[in-house]
Amino acid sequence: MTKENNIYILAIESSCDDTSAAVLHNGKILANVVAGQEVHRLWGGVVPELASRAHQQHIVPVVDAAVRQAGISLEQLSAVAFTRGPGLLGSLLVGVSFAKSLALALSIPLIEVNHMHAHILAHFIDEPKPPFPFLCLTVSGGHTQIVQVNGPVEMKILGETIDDAAGEAFDKTAKLLGLPYPGGPLIDQYAAQGNPDAFKFPVPQTPDYDYSFSGLKTSVMYFLQKQNPDFLSAHLPDVCASVQKAIIMHLMKKLKKASADTGIRHIAIAGGVSANNGLRKAIETEGADSGWTTFIPAFEYCTDNAAMIAITAYFKFLNHDFAGQTIAPYARFSGF
Ligand code: KG4
Ligand code: ZN
Repeated sequence: MTKENNIYILAIESSCDDTSAAVLHNGKILANVVAGQEVHRLWGGVVPELASRAHQQHIVPVVDAAVRQAGISLEQLSAVAFTRGPGLLGSLLVGVSFAKSLALALSIPLIEVNHMHAHILAHFIDEPKPPFPFLCLTVSGGHTQIVQVNGPVEMKILGETIDDAAGEAFDKTAKLLGLPYPGGPLIDQYAAQGNPDAFKFPVPQTPDYDYSFSGLKTSVMYFLQKQNPDFLSAHLPDVCASVQKAIIMHLMKKLKKASADTGIRHIAIAGGVSANNGLRKAIETEGADSGWTTFIPAFEYCTDNAAMIAITAYFKFLNHDFAGQTIAPYARFSGF
């Protein structure tokens, strides 16, 4: 086998509060190691300075574990890939600097990856892979987008949030309810035991395919201010189920409109919030009603992971799309 069709990529993801490394061989993931950061739970959100320091501690053991699990030696690598952005600059710098140093030491190319692009291409890790074109609802802690995906590296944003992201809506609501960070998975768990029709929270009204979640969070705040101090001890599951219902209704309304307007019925979800059981169920139900073919990622590929960086880098490797050693990270998303 020539080196061109025997491709090994080491990928590194460090955009927020998870340090992750993955090894890919010819489009197949051999290892995907993720180290979370418990330190943020105490503070009710990610503290950027603490995140950078934890990445600095985790990066070498995490890469080492991924390479061992894959059963390869560093000398077999064809390229090193890394998340360039969007994300926390201090966190990104740890991954970018590590990737640059390793690529330089091994004299192999570097591949830069856009984190949001990677969330979408996580669908190409396992079967079934969505056919092009498809629509992807990308819902994470920092972004909420409806993307029309025409090819592995050709995609356009149809709509996105004008304020908070869907993950932020979950996390900020959880904070109001006294739950620790990240609150999304906890709201999901409580919602499963609650009545989604117990309380009515307003579904945001926005133009076209745009989203807005800041008003919903404020309405939960005012709602809680009007309740007795012991209200939550009796009604937490019902509040979680009702807020989750409003978030999902907003997400689904725009997605349905985008599908109807474009005529595209291959529908995927991606990003941390795609782990939400209520959203997964809503996509399946709507899929059955509207004749969609739906693509829901495995739980391990919903939240941040380096396997999605590796698969995106694989497509870029095949296009000979490499980065130079002067490349720097970016904090904000500015398109694909
Ligand atoms: O994609 P991700 O891991 O990181 C970013 O790129 O932001 O997404 C993290 C977000 C957090 O807001 C977290 O609360 C949310 O995904 N999340 C969930 C669930 N699992 C993670 N939200 C609702 N339900 C879940 N099961
Ligand atoms: Zn993410």
